[in-house]
Formats: sequence, C-alpha cells, structure tokens
Amino acid sequence: MSILAIDAGTTGVTALVVSNRGQILSRGYQEFEQHFPKPGWVEHDPEQIWQAVLAACSRALDLSDEAPTALGITNQRETAVMWDGVTLASPTNAIVWQDRRTSDLTKELQQLNTDDWIRARTGLNLDPYFTSSKFLWWKRNLPQIWREVESGKLKLGTVDSYLVARLSGGAFHITDCSNASRTQLMNLETANWDSELLEAFGIPLHALPRITSSWGELAKTDPEHFLGLSLPISGIAGDQQAALFGQSAFEKGESKATYGTGAFILTNTGEEIVRSSHGLLATVAWQAPSGAITYASEGSVFVAGAAVQWLRDGLGIIERSSDVEQLARRSGSSDSVVFVPSLTGLGAPFWNADIRGSLLGITRGTSSSNIAFATLEAIAFQVNAVLGAMQQDLGEPIAAMRVDGGAAANDLLMQLQADCSGHDVVRARVLESTGFGAALLAGLGAGIFEDLGQLRALNETERRFTPELDRSEDYRRWLKAVEITASFS
Ligand code: G3P
Repeated sequence: MSILAIDAGTTGVTALVVSNRGQILSRGYQEFEQHFPKPGWVEHDPEQIWQAVLAACSRALDLSDEAPTALGITNQRETAVMWDGVTLASPTNAIVWQDRRTSDLTKELQQLNTDDWIRARTGLNLDPYFTSSKFLWWKRNLPQIWREVESGKLKLGTVDSYLVARLSGGAFHITDCSNASRTQLMNLETANWDSELLEAFGIPLHALPRITSSWGELAKTDPEHFLGLSLPISGIAGDQQAALFGQSAFEKGESKATYGTGAFILTNTGEEIVRSSHGLLATVAWQAPSGAITYASEGSVFVAGAAVQWLRDGLGIIERSSDVEQLARRSGSSDSVVFVPSLTGLGAPFWNADIRGSLLGITRGTSSSNIAFATLEAIAFQVNAVLGAMQQDLGEPIAAMRVDGGAAANDLLMQLQADCSGHDVVRARVLESTGFGAALLAGLGAGIFEDLGQLRALNETERRFTPELDRSEDYRRWLKAVEITASFS
C-alpha cells in the first residue's frame, strides 16, 4: 500500500510516493515561475502551480510500481488564491506570502489599535505575511473582480483549498485547520472563521472554504481532472506543520527547523496556546478528526534558502544552490563580513516589513567565498534569534533541534547552527519532512497507519551535529548589524 503526497512549495512542487513502511518509493519535481511585477511584490499564476502539480505527480507515479490508495497535500502557507467555482480559472495571480504590497494596509489597521486584538484572536501579528491583508488588497484594488467574490461566483482560499478544488473538479471547497490558522481570519480557540475578523478585513464568509481536520475523510479526487485517479484526500496541512508531523514531534516541547525558501522553527505546545511576548506566533499544528487541536509556537524566518538563491541568481557567484557550501569552505570564514538577508522584510522575532537587506564590512579583499560564508552564518543567526525567543517564551531550553528541508543537507550550515545555538542539531533521514509529513497524515486519515506510535518508528536520524566553537561574539555583531540596517531602511 502506498500514499501519494503533494508538496506545493513556494518555488516548486514535489510529489512523493511513500510506502506504508515510510520508504520513499519515487519522487517527481516541477519548478514554476515566480512573478515580481513591482519591487516587493511576489505573485504566482495558480494555473502554473496546478500544471506543476500534474507534472510532478505524473513523474512520481510513472517511477513507482505501486498505485497509491490515498493522497496527502501540504503547501506554502498564507498565499492568497482566488478562482472561479465552476471553471476553476483564476481571474488574477495569487499574492504570495513573501509579498510586501500590503505593508501600508497593515499599518493603517495598526493605527486603529487593532494589533493586540487581532493577535489575541489569531496568535498572529499584523504583518503583510498573512492572507488577511492580501484579500483586503484585492477588495480595495480590484473592485470589479471583488464583486464576483461577493456574488459567490469566485472562491477565496490558500494553496491547499485551490488544489483540492482542482483535484476534485470543483466538488470541494475546504481548508485544513492548520492552513486556516495562517489566514489571520480564524479564531485560534474555536477553530472557526471569526465574524469580527471577517468584518475588519471585509471578507464575505461564503467565499471562504469550510475548515476541516488535518486528517480523515476530507475530500476525493475526480479522475476526469486528476490523471484518471479516484483517491481519497485524507491528509492536509500547511508545509511547516506537516514537517513537524513528519519529524514526529507529537509531544509538547518537541521542535523542528525546516530550511527551505525561508526557515521555520516550530515547537509543539500541546493543547496550550502560548501567547508570545518575544515576537513569535501561536498557530495550529494540526487538528484530529475528533476536533482536538494541537498548537505550536512558530518563528518564521522569511529568507534562508532564498538568500542562497540570490547568490545564484542575483550575484551569479554560484551555479547551483548546493555549490554554496564548497564556495564558503574555500575561505572558511566571512572575514568579518556581515550579511543581513532581509530581502523580503524581516520576520520573527524582529518583524520589520519595510527593512531592506545589507552587506556590511566589505573590503577590497572580500571574496565571493567570504560572502557565501556570511550568507550561511546569516541563516544560522536568524534561526538562533528565533530559538532564543522561543526559550524565553517557553521558559525552558530546547534540548536538541531536529532539522530538515533542502538546505539542511549543507553540513557547514548545520555545524554553524550547532555552534551558534549551543544545541545539538539532529538531521532527519528524510529531508523532505514536509511531503513525508503529508504522506503520514494521509496514511493516518485513510487507516493505512493506526496511530502516532506507529508513525514515530518511521522517523530516523541521519546525523547529529554537536557544538564545537563558541560563536556568540559573531552573533552579537550580527544583531548589531540588524539594528543598523533597520535604522537605515
Ligand atoms: O509560511 C510560508 C511557508 O509555508 C513557505 O514554505 O518551504 O515554501 O519556503 P517554503
């Protein structure tokens, strides 16, 4: 028996066929285009995401001998998508989570003193990151299209809802509780859309998907729309929550960090909503079919792998992202160059939507290798800042950090992470914990797996990095650079 998992990430879609023993039998990957129509804007064409899903799934299915019996979905979160309920076509591009165009809108709402009130209900601060202000932007700037949202012709949702609509030929309009918790429109305690939040952001309830649990009988694919397959969709979660699940962090206090486009550090807080006093988010980790919710505390770092992509695409100093490690090792040091990679604002724990990035301390002798090293340090320092905030919030040290995601394959980065945090860094055998987690959720929902205990046994460690060097002085310099950069922007 096997499960097909779709991981619709920010820059591409991965499809995995996973066996009932937790083995990855095959994979397919398809990148899709990033649109940057104006400075600070990031868009995706939903049709291109869907075509990437079809291509990635076809490839994974072609390479596997086993036909899947269940489907799981995980996805880039917060991104706002709109589509026609009948034709399933999107009248406008999706506004991606990294997009900063709503910075003024969120400031306008902040001036109405809504920040604390919104945070109390949703666990999220007012920032362009979340879906709420992106929907409001459509309402204010695309009034003709918005009329069709109000008439019920057009549907609103996040990437998971959009994919369920496409996979089911429009038969289902749902979102799982973890994805809904990132829209800033769901009440974190009741797990329902919050009428006062909908009013504040001007969103009609009927345009939004029904909120479901993260596993169970959620929806079904329509063979006419999805590669001739009729499969139960039995697991859905936002990618970071799926990674927490894939790393089997089922118990309160267990954490993980995923290094993808951004880096996202989540700690399971059990039934408790931990309201941060240090710039972290409270969010839903997952909801069981019984309705029981597991919460998490999250630190979202917007730019991690994306900084390496910038070295590749912007500076052209590497050909492939994976070359960064070799380039950084050539000098073995940043030579006091400090990089603040706030290329799309700065997320947790700093929260600065308008800040731009900076590269400080360069000389005529600065090499591309020093810059590569400073980039890896910057990723580790950002994650460290979140870990510090998390320990202050939770009041106890994090014992060991489980890591996954593409950039976790970088040994140098993982060693820097262990050094600057002073914690052991434990790398999972399966780095694609997001897709793996979606497969586990779907397997649980379809009865392929019996319980969490069975899932825990499927998660294996590949390598443990222990602290070797004290980097606290470098970290302090980096924090100073963040301050200087913020005052400059
Ligand atoms: O919150 C944004 C996050 O879900 C994006 O994840 O892996 O596409 O960078 P990723």
